[in-house]
Amino acid sequence: MKVKIPATSANLGPGFDCIGMSLNLYNYIYFEQTDNYEELIIDITGEGQDLLARDHNNLTYQAYKRVFDYLGEPIPGIKLNFENNIPLARGLGSSAAAVIGGLLIANYFLKDKLEEKNLLALAVEFEGHPDNVAPALLGGIVLSGNNEGEIIYKKIAPPRDLASMVIVPNYQLSTVKAREVLPTTVSYQDALFNVSRVSLLVDAFHTEDLDLLKIAMEDKLHQPYRSSLIPGFKEILQKVKELDLVGAAVSGAGPSILILHKKDKLDKIEQLQEILANKGIESQLLFLEPTGTGACISE
Ligand code: HSE
Repeated sequence: MKVKIPATSANLGPGFDCIGMSLNLYNYIYFEQTDNYEELIIDITGEGQDLLARDHNNLTYQAYKRVFDYLGEPIPGIKLNFENNIPLARGLGSSAAAVIGGLLIANYFLKDKLEEKNLLALAVEFEGHPDNVAPALLGGIVLSGNNEGEIIYKKIAPPRDLASMVIVPNYQLSTVKAREVLPTTVSYQDALFNVSRVSLLVDAFHTEDLDLLKIAMEDKLHQPYRSSLIPGFKEILQKVKELDLVGAAVSGAGPSILILHKKDKLDKIEQLQEILANKGIESQLLFLEPTGTGACISE
């Protein structure tokens, strides 16, 4: 059996810590039960193969174990074979994918004892915020919030004419480091700015109004602070406006940059990568589509 988990772009525009979108780039985890309780055999190929833990500290295993601990059940031994395509520590939800994979495998062995909302709550214990794990689990664009431990979430289908592309710089940025640069308070004006943009963003997605999205993707809660860690981001944002694309945002905690555009505007996008190249930063362009489907298990 295998579980397939999509990449995600969290903090969608003004949706810091609460809105994310799944993308059609996937990690696969092939799994089978082994004979002895708590036994673990891991093989990893692709992204992170030299970095990720192959012992019981492996994040997917930790998430798998959490489900059995939560239900007070013994932990069946497991063999996990990872085929990783989501770049690590680049703001594309690789850790969310690892967590969701582990939770779903455990729930599969437990014959779906846990409901979607319980799985999400457990996933948030690992991540601290729902904006990556929710779209990784559910697919689509997911609005989410934490209500005293209960995760409230709503899924929206991505607009049909919306395409996305991600510029992935060749350096890593940890979420911990990217959270350290955030202030502990923000001004009333900046809070109001984001409330207005989030309201417009939700309407723009519902009505598929891609022109409204151009304004609705703006943010003042995290990007102004994180742009010091992501050289070229401000210039890319400016260029996106000049080229009349839909919008750009730091993907998750960065350093990847999500570009939203109408499906017919693809030819202009390579100019954006040049901005980073002129600063001596190598990057990769991933032409990814928003996807409406979340993580799933199949043969
Ligand atoms: N919302 C999170 C953050 C996403 O910006 O820190 C990264 O995990």
